[in-house]
Amino acid sequence: MEPINLFDYEPLARERVDPVAWDYYQSGANDEVTLRENRRAFERIRLRPRVLAGVGEPDTRLTLLGEPLRSPILVAPMAYQRMAHDEGEAAMARGASAAGAAMCVSTMATVSLEDVALAAEGPLWFQLYVYRDRAVTESLVRRAERAGYRALVVTVDMPAVGRREADLRNGFGLPPHLSLANFAGALAEEGRVAPGESALSIYAAHQLDPSLTWESIAWLRSVTTLPVLLKGILTAEDAALAVAHGVAGVIVSNHGGRQLDGVAPSIEALPEVVETVAGRCVVLVDGGLRRGTDILKALALGAQAALVGRPMLWALAVDGAAGVERAVTLLREELSLAMALAGRPTLASIDRSLVRLP
Ligand code: GLV
Repeated sequence: MEPINLFDYEPLARERVDPVAWDYYQSGANDEVTLRENRRAFERIRLRPRVLAGVGEPDTRLTLLGEPLRSPILVAPMAYQRMAHDEGEAAMARGASAAGAAMCVSTMATVSLEDVALAAEGPLWFQLYVYRDRAVTESLVRRAERAGYRALVVTVDMPAVGRREADLRNGFGLPPHLSLANFAGALAEEGRVAPGESALSIYAAHQLDPSLTWESIAWLRSVTTLPVLLKGILTAEDAALAVAHGVAGVIVSNHGGRQLDGVAPSIEALPEVVETVAGRCVVLVDGGLRRGTDILKALALGAQAALVGRPMLWALAVDGAAGVERAVTLLREELSLAMALAGRPTLASIDRSLVRLP
């Protein structure tokens, strides 16, 4: 049976993915409270539909950072996608493009950012980790600019990798046939195996800068013409600083529950960020979105668009680019139906009155 919703991909993917890689994708930090709550928080939000609104065929299109998009659904950045499917990030990009979705490509990709750009027909953003060596960071920025990426998404919630206990038990590392394709030498190979530890944690501790500050964002803005978004904002205080530092957008995110366990589910953190930003930059959200009604709730609470992570990896594992195309399309169709049933014919007509918070 063909999957008819995003959840259907999960068990099918599990049969196809190596168990150690599976644990890496699925894990949250510590007790996974935030991971679970990311989902449950959506289930607690009630919709307040309007009737007789003449919805016709709902229109899911929008313009985001100057880019026309088919729907407010983007593919979230995720590392090591060749562990899910041999063609990895290239197939993810083809599938996202075919469904009219933008994709955010991880620094930790297993296909080089240039090769992903060759595979993509739709817009790409580049998720940037800031390396201790600023020359390495700057070279990634230059390469992303040259390859036609449209925005930089700096992950700001990872001064250290969260404690994902399955990875510790498994001694998680990148399998021998894969490497970090954006790099050569030690930067591509380091931290491959680590009995009793997570190789990602070791790599990040050696290579990534744990001491980023708001000045680091000012520095990054000074070396690129691309719009800079910050991913991992959860409070009004940081949202205000982000706006003051001239970013193009913030992504309300708890890194899929993988970093600080116990933080709010991102959909609960969204309203204070939206209120503080007050339209001065773009606000996006990720974490636990699985249904068209979840996208609708996120938009009602003030996000312009949402990023979807793990389900896209499941779909990639199950059916490569075609799986990703289908998963994005299923979600867009669910959103369109939810808009019709809620009496909201356009994205602009989705407002705060559509939801009641618990
Ligand atoms: C990498 O960013 C991860 O969350 O595993």
